[in-house]
Amino acid sequence: MNITASSRIAFIIVALLLASPQGQTQAPPPGSPAVATATLRADTPGPVVNPNIYGHFAEHLGRGIYEGIWVGPDSPIPNTRGIRNDVLAALKALNIPVLRWPGGCFADEYHWRDGIGPREKRPAMINTHWGGVVENNHFGTHEFMDLVELLGTKAYITGNVGSGTVQEMMEWVEYMTSPADSPLANLRRQNGRDKPWALPYFGVGNENWGCGGTMRPEYYADEYRRYNTFVKNYDRANPIYRIACGASDRNFTWTEVLMERAGRHMNGLSLHYYTLPTGDWRQKGSSTQFGEDQWFSTLSRTLRMDEYITRHAAIMDKTDPGKRVGIVVDEWGTWYDVEPGTEPGFLYQQNTLRDALVAALNFHIFQRHADRVVMANIAQMVNVLQAVILTDKEKMLRTPTYWVFEMFKVHQGGTVLPVELQSPDYTFGEEKIPMVSASATRAADKSAVYLSLANTSPSQAATVSVKLEGISPKSVSGRVLTAPAMNTHNTFAAPDTVVPVPFDGASIAGGSLEVKLPAKSVVILTLK
Ligand code: AHR
Repeated sequence: MNITASSRIAFIIVALLLASPQGQTQAPPPGSPAVATATLRADTPGPVVNPNIYGHFAEHLGRGIYEGIWVGPDSPIPNTRGIRNDVLAALKALNIPVLRWPGGCFADEYHWRDGIGPREKRPAMINTHWGGVVENNHFGTHEFMDLVELLGTKAYITGNVGSGTVQEMMEWVEYMTSPADSPLANLRRQNGRDKPWALPYFGVGNENWGCGGTMRPEYYADEYRRYNTFVKNYDRANPIYRIACGASDRNFTWTEVLMERAGRHMNGLSLHYYTLPTGDWRQKGSSTQFGEDQWFSTLSRTLRMDEYITRHAAIMDKTDPGKRVGIVVDEWGTWYDVEPGTEPGFLYQQNTLRDALVAALNFHIFQRHADRVVMANIAQMVNVLQAVILTDKEKMLRTPTYWVFEMFKVHQGGTVLPVELQSPDYTFGEEKIPMVSASATRAADKSAVYLSLANTSPSQAATVSVKLEGISPKSVSGRVLTAPAMNTHNTFAAPDTVVPVPFDGASIAGGSLEVKLPAKSVVILTLK
């Protein structure tokens, strides 16, 4: 046997030893945990984390609204005026700050007048984007605003630019927000709502470069200016925050043109970025059947959010150095192949521990850009894409993504405390990403400092030594979200397989915090 042949055999033996069944973690490499060091700078606080970064999005898509939220008042599923109680209770526990509706692509074919008045009389329509199903318009403006009020959240409504008129958009805003004795406000009263609703956020179209009208940025900039002119502030004390349709991914030209031509007429500019394991829209990858290659590629690709925000923000800085216009990441999350046997247009996918890591990494990125990112909305809230809740008729489960929202809600409204982190690499093949990700905030009432951490390695623990500057906490407590395998997920038969548990891997000594961060985990710590 020559040297080349023997080394090839050695390589095969090593490869076989490392090979693992799908979804299972490779055996940890020999040696101790990887070592990360950090300094938490409570002495140089940064901007406030806008609570809206923990926002949600619910579109008329698949079972996102119908079954997922709306079952109707006559359903055997317990409900409040048609909104299912189990989902409502689970969502309320997240302190949802803002909810975007009715789309997405659906927004630019939605005609609001079809969704008011007695339900049995509402006209139906075809939902051309999402499965071609017949939409009965039973969930309309009144039902959405009821949901908003039941959740104690804020409304973010996207208007129809692609196939609607300026007059239609203008009248919708008047219908919802005018206190006057006017025909549209009186129509609202006739339909059962006396007081105007609060409408803090309004989007002028969605993805108008694509499903919202296939427009050029120059054309949309003019359309934005025209439609926006007629979005009136009927409640002068609470002017509407106007959000223009922004770019997807790396469409930097769109941002450049919009900022130059319409920047001064908007309050926010949206940004969409979806994480696909393969990067190929024809074969995106399975939500549950994946190995370490797609674990790595998903986490690596989701980290591109940082680059996109940085580059779009730099373009905005040219015409808006004072950062008056906020970035609104109103669609983000994982997008996989649909679950086998489900309608392709319904975008129903499972959600594993990998999605929890994706959520944590994105929240850390949004908090790092808290000076410009004012809102983010996970796509989507229930039964669609990276959902926080899945339902199967009367059954419901909370996904691993849900639990990251729940663990991280303490960051809402806190002040960013910079974390200077030196992370070891998580290497896969020729590529690498940081193994450890971290973000810290001080609670608005200054009662605690919260530090969240994520370990992207599926097999290697990390020890994180954090020097504390500007705080001397006496105690640390925490919770951890992890699971035996990369693809562990909650099912309707076992809905509590992936849930956070108390974490005892953190200790404080001599002005330093020591954290033993398990492989493939998300941790939230409370320092007091
Ligand atoms: O979230 C699903 C779809 O993704 C939305 O309708 C659209 O805006 C985006 O392309």
